[in-house]
Amino acid sequence: MTTQEPTHDLSAIAAAVGAQDLSGALHWMAEHFPGGLAFSTSLGQEDQVITDAIFRNKLDVRIFTLDTGRLFAETYELIDATRQRYDARIDVFTPDAALLQKLTTEKGFHSFYESVENRKECCHVRKVEPLTRALHGAQVWVTGLRAEQSANRQAMRIVEWDAGYGLIKFNPLIAWSYADVLEYIRAHDVPDNPLHRRGFVSIGCAPCTRAIEPGEDPRAGRWWWETSKKECGLHRSS
Ligand code: ADX
Ligand code: SF4
Repeated sequence: MTTQEPTHDLSAIAAAVGAQDLSGALHWMAEHFPGGLAFSTSLGQEDQVITDAIFRNKLDVRIFTLDTGRLFAETYELIDATRQRYDARIDVFTPDAALLQKLTTEKGFHSFYESVENRKECCHVRKVEPLTRALHGAQVWVTGLRAEQSANRQAMRIVEWDAGYGLIKFNPLIAWSYADVLEYIRAHDVPDNPLHRRGFVSIGCAPCTRAIEPGEDPRAGRWWWETSKKECGLHRSS
């Protein structure tokens, strides 16, 4: 891991992309960092909006997802449906076989319920380590993070320096509301996860995600048995 200083003037980049709509902002980034953009999608509604903008405009952005091995059947179906809809490629990164084999052999398949430490270990093996491989060679990491999603995310900016990975993190939807996301999905007929119609808002791994009640915090369904900070370690500045 690196802690190198920003390689570019982030304020200037933020000013350039902040003045544009989603497609314009992605286009600007793709032009200024040719071959350097990698977008991580969890197939959530925010990510589907970005995927639509990338594929619809045929932008030079590599799209990948992290298959933890524990996703909902509906999420796997959505990965295939999205590829078919746009006739485009989504790369899949899976956990390192030896690390996963060690984890499940030594701790079983539900160790994450036992302690925060165990949960972080599982997230590390199934998400964080594969993310490190997925981001290899990228100059810009595009995410679907929104400030509204949590207190941690309120401090995030549209363009940030990720010192851990030594790259620019680009969060084009950071200022979007959930209503903005839904409106884009409706207007562009973007495929999304049917679980959203069954009370699921933020969707991650099946054993670690539950539906929420109206009025509950949008992230209340993630790692709901924990009281501490509910992040999986992908977004370390958070
Ligand atoms: S998490 O940190 O709690 O898991 P969340 O589900 O809110 O994250 O998603 C935030 C962003 O993290 C997404 O927009 C996406 O860029 C990235 N992300 C989360 N999960 C995955 C995944 N399984 N594969 C790829 N990217 C992911
Ligand atoms: Fe493991 Fe749950 Fe983290 Fe998925 S969300 S990687 S199952 S602890």
